[in-house]
Amino acid sequence: MSKSLQAIRGMNDILPEQTPLWRYFEGTVARLLDNYGYKQIRMPIVEFTELFKRSIGEVTDIVEKEMYTFDDRNGDSLTLRPEGTAACVRAVLEHGITGGGQVQKLWYIGPMFRHERPQKGRYRQFHQIGLEVFNLDGPDIDAELIIMTWRLWGELGIRDAVKLELNSLGTSESRGRYREALVEYLTAHHDKLDEDSQRRLKSNPLRVLDTKNAETQAVLVDAPKMADYLDDESRAHFEGLKARLDAVGIPYVLNPKLVRGLDYYSKTVFEWVTDKLGAQGTVCAGGRYDGLVEQMGGKPTPGVGFAMGIERLVLMLETLEQIPQEISRQVDVYLCAFGEEAELAGLALAERVRDQLPNLRLQVNAGAGSFKSQFKKADKSGALYALILGDDEMAQQVVGFKPLRGQGEQQSIAWDALAAHLATCVVQG
Ligand code: HAM
Repeated sequence: MSKSLQAIRGMNDILPEQTPLWRYFEGTVARLLDNYGYKQIRMPIVEFTELFKRSIGEVTDIVEKEMYTFDDRNGDSLTLRPEGTAACVRAVLEHGITGGGQVQKLWYIGPMFRHERPQKGRYRQFHQIGLEVFNLDGPDIDAELIIMTWRLWGELGIRDAVKLELNSLGTSESRGRYREALVEYLTAHHDKLDEDSQRRLKSNPLRVLDTKNAETQAVLVDAPKMADYLDDESRAHFEGLKARLDAVGIPYVLNPKLVRGLDYYSKTVFEWVTDKLGAQGTVCAGGRYDGLVEQMGGKPTPGVGFAMGIERLVLMLETLEQIPQEISRQVDVYLCAFGEEAELAGLALAERVRDQLPNLRLQVNAGAGSFKSQFKKADKSGALYALILGDDEMAQQVVGFKPLRGQGEQQSIAWDALAAHLATCVVQG
């Protein structure tokens, strides 16, 4: 196929054999969020470029080199969203739904776009489920977010494979004081820093803490520690969060170098990481951003949230073989009909059954075919049972009911009794 007719590098089709696992994952998260009282919000995929520059920060990797930005026909600079927080803040401000201290607990799902170098677990179009809470400033809500994800890992069967890393960045004042101390220290060791860190030292010094360069890491060993610069309020907040995680029994690792790649954070930051996926090990990440709403033109409004990468979590489920059996079966019952008259009767019968069992996954054979070929299709569909309508069955107004997996003889069931019979043998989701 010519290159121009292929998908763009790093932007993947999710094929029919993969979608059941995606839907299982998304459904599990959606149910959990419902149960904790979160409401879904849907934002556009494209926003004014300015929105991301102002919120994520001009000197971040995302804004400097990863955004898909273009001019539309009006000459406006637009960007495919690289993340969801900025647009969510824009939306709540635009619609005034956080005014007067109204609490909002929101979640969203959808594709995000970053021009990163594609590799396993890192794509240019990827999908997040994200969540943002407005107007709650205590550590209790930070704890709830983490507790909720902990429950999710438990439900998905991947709890033992993820680790929680935690840090506090403090308020912007305490971070400012820390930044000064760090810059002073790093400037004294300027020549030992790698090139990227030298550049970051000028533009965004906290990001030097995030370096992967071994020599720079060695320099950082004796660098000032963020925890020593936390103001009392941030310290109390962080202690409050840790006490709650301890109360629920959620293990965590304090990582003083955890700074995150977006500029809007204050106080709590956290990442759930795994060593099961190779280099792209962060499956869920977030934190508090108490200054962001005000920075975007709103009244001071505390905020906290996180986002998880769906591709990475689906990969985890596959890698750890935590794929529930029931999702591999898409069809409960397959109806085979032989001859035109049987096909018509079969269609009507199928619809009557669907009326009575709306959750039954009933597939009606399409494309006619011999007994053998229809049976082959029934078997390949993964169905538990085949229903058979031929001349004999038509004459007696019954349907042949044949178990396809395991034991059991074929039986004849009267048309009127079919739905009731199916209800007893198929466990419906
Ligand atoms: P983030 O750390 O940039 O945070 O992304 C969150 C998660 O999205 C990552 O932990 C990862 O699982 C997934 N992810 C990010 N980039 C890629 C990629 N190129 N390919 C595949 N997966 C990826 C945010 O986006 C913040 N908005 C989170 C947040 C919400 N903070 C507060 N509220």
